[in-house]
Amino acid sequence: MRPILAALISGFALFAALPALADDIKDGEKVYKTKTCVACHGPRGQRPIQSYPALAGQNEKYMLTQLKDIKSGKRIGSPDPVTGHPFVQGMVDIMHLVDDNDLKLVAKYLAAQDPGKIKPLDPVPTTEELDAGAAAYKSLGCTACHGKDGSKPTTKNYPFLAGLQRDYLVRQMTEMRDKVRVNGQSKLMFGTIKKADDDQIMAVATWLSQIDRNAK
Ligand code: HEC
Ligand code: HEC
Repeated sequence: MRPILAALISGFALFAALPALADDIKDGEKVYKTKTCVACHGPRGQRPIQSYPALAGQNEKYMLTQLKDIKSGKRIGSPDPVTGHPFVQGMVDIMHLVDDNDLKLVAKYLAAQDPGKIKPLDPVPTTEELDAGAAAYKSLGCTACHGKDGSKPTTKNYPFLAGLQRDYLVRQMTEMRDKVRVNGQSKLMFGTIKKADDDQIMAVATWLSQIDRNAK
C-alpha cells in the first residue's frame, strides 16, 4: 500500500476508535455510580473514605487484575479493626452486581480520571520526615518498578503510588511484606519489601501520600 494511503487509513481508524473509547468511559461511569463503588472510593475515585484506595488515574490493567482477584477471592488482606472483617470484604460483597464487562468499563473510566488533589496529613509531616521517606524509597529500590516518586510505574501492570492515602499504603506494604497479600504480581515485591521495617514503611507512605501527580 502507498504510504499516504496507509496513513490515511490508519488515521481514519484512530478517528473511528475515539468515539468508542468515549462510549466505554461513559458506560464505565454508569457502572461506577450505580454499583456502589462511589460510596467507598468517592467521586471519580478521587476521595476514598478512611484508609481505602484512591482509584482516579490508576493504571487500567493493574485495576482490572485487582478487580478480578477481588471477585474471585484471590486478594485477601488483614481485618479492619473496626468491623473485624477484612478491609476488602465490603467489595467482595457487592461483586455479584458486576460482570466481567462492567469491570473492564469501570477500570477504563477510572484510569481516565484526573488523580485530583492530595489529602493533607494532620499533623503536617516535617521536611525531615518527608526526606526520610524519599531516601528509604530510593535505597530500598522501589524506583525500579514504581518509577520516580511513585508516579511513573514502569509497566501497566504496576500501580501508581503517588498521592494514595497514607494508611492504605502502609497496610498494603505491610501485608505484602508479611505475605498476607499474595495475589497478582505481588511476588515481584517480596524481595524488596522484606527489607523494609515498620519505620521505613511509615516514612515511605507518608512521603508518597503527599506527592501531587499533577505537579509532575
Ligand atoms: C464497601 C466499600 C467498597 C465498595 C462498595 C467498593 N470498594 Fe473497591 N475497595 C475497597 C477497599 C477497602 C479496598 C482495598 C482492600 C484492601 O485493603 O485490601 C478496595 C480496593 C479496590 C481496588 C484495588 C485498588 C488498588 O489500588 O489495588 C479497585 C480497583 C476497586 N476497589 C474498585 C472498586 C469498584 C470498581 C467498585 C464498584 C464495582 C468498588 N471498588 C466498590 C472498598 C470498596
Ligand atoms: C520488581 C518490581 C517491584 C518493586 C521493586 C517494588 N514493587 Fe511495589 N508493586 C509491584 C507490583 C507488580 C505491584 C502490584 C501487585 C499485584 O499485582 O497485586 C506492587 C504493588 C505495590 C503497592 C500496592 C499498591 C496498591 O494500589 O494497592 C504498594 C504500596 C507498593 N507496591 C509499594 C512499593 C514500595 C514502597 C517498594 C519499595 C520498598 C516497592 N513497591 C517495590 C512491583 C514492585
